[in-house]
Amino acid sequence: MFAKRVNEIQPFRVMEVLARAAELEAAGHRVVHFEVGEPDFATAAPIVEAGRRALAEGHTKYTPATGIMPLREAIAGYYEAAGVAVATQRIIVTSGASGGLTLLAALLLDPGDELLITDPGYPCNEVFARLAGALPRPVVVGPNDQFQPQESDLLAAWGPHTRGALLASPANPTGAMLSRQRLHAICRALQQRGGFLILDEIYQGIYLQQHTAEYPTGLAVADDIYVLNSFSKYFGMTGWRLGWVVVPEAAADAVTRLAQNLFISPSTPAQYAALQAFSAEAQAIHQQRVDAFNQRAGLLVQGLQQLGFRIPVPPQGAFYVYVDISHTGLDSGEFCRRLLDEFYVAVTPGADFGSHDAGRYVRFAFTTDEASMRLGLARLQQALSAWGAA
Ligand SMILES: Cc1ncc(COP(=O)(O)O)c(C=O)c1O
Repeated sequence: MFAKRVNEIQPFRVMEVLARAAELEAAGHRVVHFEVGEPDFATAAPIVEAGRRALAEGHTKYTPATGIMPLREAIAGYYEAAGVAVATQRIIVTSGASGGLTLLAALLLDPGDELLITDPGYPCNEVFARLAGALPRPVVVGPNDQFQPQESDLLAAWGPHTRGALLASPANPTGAMLSRQRLHAICRALQQRGGFLILDEIYQGIYLQQHTAEYPTGLAVADDIYVLNSFSKYFGMTGWRLGWVVVPEAAADAVTRLAQNLFISPSTPAQYAALQAFSAEAQAIHQQRVDAFNQRAGLLVQGLQQLGFRIPVPPQGAFYVYVDISHTGLDSGEFCRRLLDEFYVAVTPGADFGSHDAGRYVRFAFTTDEASMRLGLARLQQALSAWGAA
């Protein structure tokens, strides 16, 4: 009855965790949330105020498909401040990074093509490939390689139908970043194969525990890659549904035509609000939040390690820790189910992010305040004792 691709699409398990947590909360339990992949902070006040003003001033109609020029200029200014020149016509404003992924899949993949993605990685990536009739080809990334691929991994997975790779730095679910040297080697290898690189930089700016990116954006390493970004994470605007892509100049016209036809335009009030996202006032607020994520990362990593959990690669960015739970003797799916049902702590099983070693790992998101995190750690300790795994 439905298209075949629908059968290939896995449910987003974190949504099931959220639904079960909501049931438990409705029954009166206090659930500690480590599963939510969005900042708990509200959008910064100057952005909200600009959004209000946009509505009051009647900015409620379509805009150009590529976004309003002042916003494209502001995004270009953001790169310029980081020392990277990007022409405004290469910047296309989208409905979140999800809109950007839709556009790039439509632009770059034909039916039967293959797209290299990482396992573990962002679960929706493969769906964008399938939407274009292409096949995702997972490349296993493990702790020995800091959960990021080497160029040799990509070349080994490269087949006759492979067209390119989609990587992320910092990555979800591991918080792992690509070093300059590794990104450079990957770009060179893909170029030799005539392949493209899409680099998801949605967690750009959220750097943890003394790590800073070795480069402000992948565009500083290679100018001809496709970069995804979003106002969702660093800028705290998940629900506004706004992001952008940067494409090579030769692709700008084709992406514009796709954007016109697929989306007409991104949200108008959100675009006017986002103009304020780059103001000094909003940036100061965003930076304070990064400081808070840093505090939380320290607390969580240390707390989990003290409980005996192994964190093979502490996160360098984003707001996730990928934790090895194998010493509990439970599979990660079972671990998550029991932790939620018996101790009211919600975390996401590794199976949401891939299949390789997924039963060994769970993702903790530190998108909750420190007091709740401490409560969650105390409950984890109780769980381990109760399960005889302490
Ligand atoms: C790595 C990655 N890419 C893309 C997205 C999509 O984000 P959005 O559409 O909100 O910009 C997410 C959301 O969690 C993500 O983690």
